[in-house]
Amino acid sequence: APPGGTPRWRPEVHFTPARNWMNDPNGLVFHQGEYHLFFQHNPESTEHANLSWGHAISTDLARWQELDVALLPDELGEIYSGSAVVDHHDTSGFFGGGAGLVAIYTSAGDTQQQSIAHSADNGRTWTKFEGNPVIPNPGVQDFRDPKVIRHEPTGQWVLMLAAGDHIRFYGSPNLREWRLLSEFGREHGAHGGVWECPDLFELPVDGDTADTRWVLVVSINPGGPAGGSGTQYFLGDFDGTAFVAEGPAEQVRWAERSADFYAAQSWSDVPAADGRRLWVGWLSNWAYAQQVPTSPWRGAMTVPRQVGLTATDSGPALTQRPVAELDRLRTGARRWSGAVTGPGPEFAGTALDVVAEFRLDTATSFGFDVFAGEAGRTRVGYDVAAGELFVDRTASGSTPVSATFPAKHGAPLAVPDGVLRLRLIADRSCVEVYADRGQVVLTELVFPDAGSDALRLFATGGRVLVPSLEVFDLTA
Ligand code: FRU
Repeated sequence: APPGGTPRWRPEVHFTPARNWMNDPNGLVFHQGEYHLFFQHNPESTEHANLSWGHAISTDLARWQELDVALLPDELGEIYSGSAVVDHHDTSGFFGGGAGLVAIYTSAGDTQQQSIAHSADNGRTWTKFEGNPVIPNPGVQDFRDPKVIRHEPTGQWVLMLAAGDHIRFYGSPNLREWRLLSEFGREHGAHGGVWECPDLFELPVDGDTADTRWVLVVSINPGGPAGGSGTQYFLGDFDGTAFVAEGPAEQVRWAERSADFYAAQSWSDVPAADGRRLWVGWLSNWAYAQQVPTSPWRGAMTVPRQVGLTATDSGPALTQRPVAELDRLRTGARRWSGAVTGPGPEFAGTALDVVAEFRLDTATSFGFDVFAGEAGRTRVGYDVAAGELFVDRTASGSTPVSATFPAKHGAPLAVPDGVLRLRLIADRSCVEVYADRGQVVLTELVFPDAGSDALRLFATGGRVLVPSLEVFDLTA
């Protein structure tokens, strides 16, 4: 790694640890006005080792403050992924009748088992439960990533974890004693790799609270749609005991078809008055995560996103959009409208939030070259004939990452009314692209060369009309 590190790749608004390794988001919980973001972290180096829970907090989901490491490895092993809840009524007995935070994580030693820890000071210090593990290993090699939710109708805590090729559900009155409730998924969805990091929540379809689905999120590695890691989801019903999927068992739904959205988890205990389901993912892919060329940190999170469901011809589908709080980080608005044929107008910046409307005309492809310089650029575009939104990072920078890294990834996208609305967040070493009210999202890492600091519109094969374009700088 270069002696001074790689500051030009440090995202402005995406969370990165000050130093060292980071993978999955863990323990996402809102408590006492703070959003907690714990994360898989090696406090000692940029390698995936000594797994601990790093910790950051935010009061607005836009600016993050990193705190001391929350959980370090112990005699049961490293601290792998997991979740956290507010134990409002002291069901656990850890809080003398008050409320506190309980973290539920995998102890990864000779075997993988589930353990808990508690904090009575807003997550600043943690005490591991002396009765750990609370779920010993049942003879299953991959047995990890517990996510706990409160299921009020059955008056219990529900824990789900990934057991190799399926999800196991457990129930508990007190977060200490767990009883197996059901299993799901051996016959469902994608199985090109190991299942990891489940999550489960109920969402209304298009905001209609009388028409809801339970969404079971399951990360899988490898076997993702862009190679390596991927995030799939199931829609169905959950009665507090078992998840029943709707649709054909072999149906596979991907949250994204791009390369770098993994291990997504949602925040627990967001106030009901807020009403949003918020999540964040790890902005990387196990196919090359350990070769990412940044220093002195390695690993980034996506921006926090609001998750929803919307009705489509083939049933409800997941939607994602950046949380509205990010709008507060916009400065320096530039506006443009016109027609683009060949290279279009150019805007300076490497931490940008772009909102654009394209009206299809004679161009066969169009969009943005971002992080564009003399030689390199990352192309974010729409291929009209293929009906595909894509990110092309084959020429994004000259720093090698891995053999499979330079690639073009895309997702089908119909534009029935001839107007494509795109939101692009480009932040030093990553792009997030949102289209079709958030049904199509692409998230990708890139490592541009120094001096590749322009955003340029392009059209090939003809012209595209741009009725409106807003380009903002993002400043945390
Ligand atoms: C997912 C994952 C989890 C595991 C953690 C280890 O990226 O492999 O299954 O708990 O990372 O760091």
